[in-house]
Amino acid sequence: MKENIMIVPDISTEFRDKVAVVTGGGSGIGRAIAQRYAAAGGKVVVLGRREEPLQETVRLITEAGGQAGHVSCDVRDAQGMAEAIDAVAAEEGRLDALVNNAAGNFIAAGEDLSPNGWKAVIDIVLNGTFYATHAAAQHMLAAGSGSILNVIATYAWHGHPGTVHSAAAKGGVVAMTRTLAVEWAARGVRVNCIAPGPTETEGAGAALWGTEAARARVLGGVPAGRFASPAEIAESASYLLGPRADYITGEVMVVDGGQWLGKSVYTASGANA
Ligand code: HXC
Repeated sequence: MKENIMIVPDISTEFRDKVAVVTGGGSGIGRAIAQRYAAAGGKVVVLGRREEPLQETVRLITEAGGQAGHVSCDVRDAQGMAEAIDAVAAEEGRLDALVNNAAGNFIAAGEDLSPNGWKAVIDIVLNGTFYATHAAAQHMLAAGSGSILNVIATYAWHGHPGTVHSAAAKGGVVAMTRTLAVEWAARGVRVNCIAPGPTETEGAGAALWGTEAARARVLGGVPAGRFASPAEIAESASYLLGPRADYITGEVMVVDGGQWLGKSVYTASGANA
């Protein structure tokens, strides 16, 4: 049991000497999480398919005084992922955190979605998360500590018309999270999810609210009345990744401005509106 003394942690240095890998770290939420981890003293390796956005994340972090590197790899390539993660652990001598943020998404009615379209998203979101997690866990379990964070969406449990591939994949990630959290809890490795609501990123915007009308419709479903900023999501992610959440595992933190709860049927989401 931890001592019952109230100590306010210094979150500005909570990742000092720690190493994290962030998939999909070249843009949006992944980039913001990488920046937040580095801002608290950690070294971050961003991983993704395209070199240029990864380099830009590294530039932003190093210009701000942080430490970062990058590896080009497709999360769908199990062997490539294992090699990339092994290389990070070998070079840095440790691996403290993994953020499975890489995602693929587009709107398609279930009956119009080709098997290949289904497979593309399942491969990125569900299989890619497992490949990275499996590779990182080898190092974390050997060290007796580690924190894995999977970026999901609340439609993992309430479903969402037009994204059957992504909803099924994210639902699978939740089940994976809860299963591995229990398998690894006594061995010092935590596994959690964060479920961001609509966030101001180019990737999600292009995939899910590509027109002004679609954007207004999405916004109209958020009780908080605004989109999240990537930095806000990164703040919650850093909490789950770090020592302040040491006793939290197998959990999903929803950061969505009330979006998924705000299904008002008889009134608008403000009761007086
Ligand atoms: C219908 C489509 C499609 C579309 C692709 N496909 N886009 N079908 N509508 N808009 C089909 C193709 O026709 C093809 O099937 C199959 O999917 C594979 O397409 P490729 O382009 O060859 O795949 P690939 O190059 O591997 O790209 C994967 C991708 C792509 C998922 C389709 O969009 C991608 O890589 N996106 C990464 C970035 C991204 O989407 N980020 C947004 C995540 S946001 P056929 O049968 O023709 O061969 C997010 C937030 C969720 O997840 C939560 C919000 C609250």
